[in-house]
Amino acid sequence: MIMSEYTLQNSTITTLLERRSIRQWADEPIPDDVIETLQSVAQHAPTSEFLNDWSAIRITDPNVAAQLAEIGNQPYIAQAPLLYVFVADEHRNMQIAQSHDAEFTEDTVSFTSSYRFVQAHNDVILAMHAMETAANSLGLGCVYLGSILNNIDKLIEILHLPKYTFPVLGLAIGKPAQEPMIKPRMSQSMQFFENHYPEADDTQFTQQLNENLADFDKRVHQYYDLRHADRPVAAFSDQVVKNAQKDLSKKNITTPAAAQGFQLNR
Ligand SMILES: Cc1cc2nc3c(=O)[nH]c(=O)nc-3n(C[C@H](O)[C@H](O)[C@H](O)COP(=O)(O)O)c2cc1C
Repeated sequence: MIMSEYTLQNSTITTLLERRSIRQWADEPIPDDVIETLQSVAQHAPTSEFLNDWSAIRITDPNVAAQLAEIGNQPYIAQAPLLYVFVADEHRNMQIAQSHDAEFTEDTVSFTSSYRFVQAHNDVILAMHAMETAANSLGLGCVYLGSILNNIDKLIEILHLPKYTFPVLGLAIGKPAQEPMIKPRMSQSMQFFENHYPEADDTQFTQQLNENLADFDKRVHQYYDLRHADRPVAAFSDQVVKNAQKDLSKKNITTPAAAQGFQLNR
């Protein structure tokens, strides 16, 4: 468990500190009462302006799950006992608004603005994290699935997503059939600042950052990813440099978002 001498303990904190991604599950269905509980927990997450602007699609058809696994290039997506795709959803709110006043158009309504697009994503993430935490607290294991966005157009087609919706992430849940290590995290001083972002000429901060980064690189390098358990993972800095070289043009969000009716320049 990741605990310093200062870390307080209770069952919620333990659940959160012991969380890790699980990518292999027992072939056991998740009981209905568990599913309903997880869904209720997700619904009780905070929601911007109480717009409740998200929906989740539970994938129960193995053919659909297989298609998502193919898009994500991750076979375990199709093996998850419980699988959701969470969607930023302004479709429902648009319908409600338009049923009251037909004058609301895509060009004027707030729901298609960049601000709402981002806030709807925030809502999704909070709901998903609540669901993940509740699942973990019940002894289940989860993994978030950004890989399903490898082909957004296809995903939208498979899930029949209407205008004013946008897929955000998948969440795979099940009883863990693996015991991965808890992945290290950087020292708090690298991620938590006081009152303002550290100045570029703050040499004391820079020196401490470099020391902490070297330590973090070493700890990450000692971590074994069960996907490649024969070797330690690359140091954090090396992962960042490798990631910086990625061509993400195929994952461009603005084009499919525009096709879904969002106006991200507004
Ligand atoms: C937005 C997001 C997308 C992710 N997408 C994937 C994914 O497609 N496939 C996967 O196996 N893990 C995915 N992950 C899991 C991360 O790889 C994982 O959280 C990270 O390496 C830290 O490891 P841990 O969760 O075990 O602490 C995703 C996580 C996040 C937050």
